Amino acid sequence: MSSLSNPVRARVRRHRTKDSVSRLAFRVSYLRRSREIYRRYLESKPWLNQLYSSFLNIKPGQKIVDVGCGPGDFTRQLARLSNQKASILGIDSNEKSIQAATTDTKKARLSQSVSYKLGDVYKIPLEDGYADLTCCRTLLMHLTEPLKAVKEMVRVTKTGGSVVALEGGKMGAFHDPDDEEYSKLAERAHDAWVNGIRKLEGKEFKIGEKLPGIFQKAGLSDIKAEVQADAWLYSDPRRRLSDVKAELRFDYSVFKERRRKDRKYLLAGGLRRDASLYAATFFLVSGVKKG
Ligand SMILES: C[S@@+](CC[C@H](N)C(=O)[O-])C[C@H]1O[C@@H](n2cnc3c(N)ncnc32)[C@H](O)[C@@H]1O
Repeated sequence: MSSLSNPVRARVRRHRTKDSVSRLAFRVSYLRRSREIYRRYLESKPWLNQLYSSFLNIKPGQKIVDVGCGPGDFTRQLARLSNQKASILGIDSNEKSIQAATTDTKKARLSQSVSYKLGDVYKIPLEDGYADLTCCRTLLMHLTEPLKAVKEMVRVTKTGGSVVALEGGKMGAFHDPDDEEYSKLAERAHDAWVNGIRKLEGKEFKIGEKLPGIFQKAGLSDIKAEVQADAWLYSDPRRRLSDVKAELRFDYSVFKERRRKDRKYLLAGGLRRDASLYAATFFLVSGVKKG
């Protein structure tokens, strides 16, 4: 169907430009900026590494592919989880990400087990059945054709191997104990923002809940899912004040950069008042490629 005869698609296509909601999230500087905060966050919740370790079940000698790797933060996490006993390849369509990933991995002294390659998830530059495990983190949420991407991830995975996606879900909560109305408005604002992105760009930004269905359509079996739910309480005594400050500074800088754009999605999603909220639930979904 031509975009002329389908106004929704035409609109989506027009938004697939430099103005996209994904633009900031693809920038190396943004991804590097959030790194330290995330590292400290992982330190404060040691059970998360255990969750990742048991969910991914990496074995020595395995070949692992991380698509949409950005500057390699998750790729290096995979290397650490495998005690550097697996061979890990990060792939990204942005040349700057690949350069940054290579530099940062050298600095982290992980180059022995981690390498990178330029490539598109819709056409991964690897032969059929290359990997024991093919994964991605926060990539599918930015794609207009996530099923096509997962099918391509399946193609490069061995029979008996696994495909894993780690993506945000829509489950979330916000509550201001002194302002019930604001709490409700914040939840509506969040829904409007997600609906606006779907309408304007054709992306499912909170794709987590949909992953099991997408994996099934891509032909995967033995599908498993876990939810990594985060509670963000600034007053949590386990958190350092300096971390709370760093996080607020980071949130504020992102807010400043995205203020105009976020309003656009909120309005497109049906919200007539300005408010924004970030709530996080992260889905870990895996499936096995059967013969
Ligand atoms: C939000 S970042 C996530 C980076 C990394 N996975 C992480 O979790 O830190 C998404 C990444 O996907 C890459 N990307 C976007 N579209 C892609 C495509 N079609 N093929 C490969 N990579 C893509 C972007 O360049 C960006 O580095």
